[in-house]
Amino acid sequence: MPSHLLLKRFKSRRMTLPDPDCAHNASNPNLCWYKKPMFDFWQSLLAALERLAMLPSLIHSVLPSLPSRKRTRDAVRTYERTLDDLLREIQRLLEAPLDPAQLLHMSGKLHDQFAPKLHASDMCMLPSYNHKLPTGLEHGTYLALDVGGSNFRVAVVELNGRQPAAKSMRIVNMKSYKIDNSVRYLRGTQFFDWMAEKIDMAISDPQLKKINGTSTFPMGLAWSFPVEQTSTRSGNLLAMGKGFRATEGTLGQDLSELIMAPCRKRNLPVRLDSIVNDSSATLLSRAYEDPATRFAVILGTGFNIAVHLPTSALSSTKYKGYPQKWRDEATHVLVNTELSMFGGKPVFPMTRWDEQLNDAHVRPDFQPFEHMISGRYLGELVRLIVSEAVRTAGLFGGEMPDKLNEAYSLDTGTIAALEMDTSKNLTNGIALFQTKHPLSRPPTYNDIHFIRQVSQLVAHRAAAFLAAGIHSLWNLRTASEGLTPATAGKMAIGCNGSIIEKYPLFRELCQSHLDELTAASGAEPKSISLEIAVESAIFGAAVAVCCLEE
Ligand code: GLC
Repeated sequence: MPSHLLLKRFKSRRMTLPDPDCAHNASNPNLCWYKKPMFDFWQSLLAALERLAMLPSLIHSVLPSLPSRKRTRDAVRTYERTLDDLLREIQRLLEAPLDPAQLLHMSGKLHDQFAPKLHASDMCMLPSYNHKLPTGLEHGTYLALDVGGSNFRVAVVELNGRQPAAKSMRIVNMKSYKIDNSVRYLRGTQFFDWMAEKIDMAISDPQLKKINGTSTFPMGLAWSFPVEQTSTRSGNLLAMGKGFRATEGTLGQDLSELIMAPCRKRNLPVRLDSIVNDSSATLLSRAYEDPATRFAVILGTGFNIAVHLPTSALSSTKYKGYPQKWRDEATHVLVNTELSMFGGKPVFPMTRWDEQLNDAHVRPDFQPFEHMISGRYLGELVRLIVSEAVRTAGLFGGEMPDKLNEAYSLDTGTIAALEMDTSKNLTNGIALFQTKHPLSRPPTYNDIHFIRQVSQLVAHRAAAFLAAGIHSLWNLRTASEGLTPATAGKMAIGCNGSIIEKYPLFRELCQSHLDELTAASGAEPKSISLEIAVESAIFGAAVAVCCLEE
């Protein structure tokens, strides 16, 4: 479906509430584009009946004199407003900033934030030592490590070269180890001892032994945290988000040595040849398959974008310690932007729920962009809104569902499942919610419908803000290449992570906004395409090693 149609259909699919404001703007539909009513007469009538039948808060406010036996559990309470009023407010706050002019403005504001960080920052806009993208012809078998937010994966990866109608890369064998809180809270070197133990377990697999024989495994690491590279194979450990404590007592130490020391203790036949951030790994892996790739987006628990930029886009202080040979050869450099650290109040309009999330965060203001769009936070934003709806507008008849008062208790996977529910009367969604967050009486259709609406609004805003982020980096790259939007040509973006890969309609919505933004900037239509890069962290870790060998 053409992207502008998708945006239109999505906006209208979600819209269920006739908004009195829209009537005033009937002559100019653009003024309330986000409020276009979707229901025809019969649908609105049905919805109204449904609301009357199923929303105790409404019954209470509309018909306060119902006989007591008909009163529902909330009838003794009064609420500040109806759910419909609250939903209208949520919709206004979350959707109003999404028109192209405002997104372009945000993209510009982000761009303004880049300049000082490209000049000097040891936290973001981090250059790597990888300056060339893969040719796609590289071959070899490697041990790839991927330390993500919730799993540590060790895989043997085979690269066979780009070829038509055949797989250019293959995971021969992969072991995945859960990173739960007990691992996440391991302090300093204990975390790296744990990694070495898991590498040991993985390579003890008889199948792996057969592959490798007695030789040493060349290893590549995809690290889903910032790292200050000191060579292709080493880098200083920087502050880790996602609740990890591995930096306690090890901050600033060499990541390669932290991993290799316990491996040597165990006499493991491994050698760490390359370290890359997971976003850079995604770019390398996608570029191995598609030479038009210049960006990579990671959007799962965390968020980041890697960009292949001309070296001149960063000031020379950023290459302190780089060998002269590297400086002479490199025209471009793979940059880990740590885009999650940009944004915040100067860029994005913040709602009260964004403020609440930030205020209660262990590291407020550290990754403000991530707080608005990543998988760790989408569920939390919805939870904050839903809790407010319970307290102030009688959602669930005013009863707080089990655990819903606890921060981060509403999983993004749960809201995605609610959005995907196609069962009649949302029976599956109702059952799912009742299992996860039991109530004394199961939620009604309208309760779950409300959560779905809120989830769609929160996720749509995230997809649009991501588009603004990509657009601002695309502008940066275009200008630093000495191009204009009109001459920038086509570009592919490798995308990886549960949200961008799996959240219903997320990538499609982001693509639609991106199309609008690039067109408004004067680029040729469809100049940027978001492409899924499956298992790209693991593949990219291997590609990074093989690029060194060519
Ligand atoms: C976090 C990390 C970043 C990583 C991203 C995706 O934002 O800071 O390094 O790339 O998550 O995993």
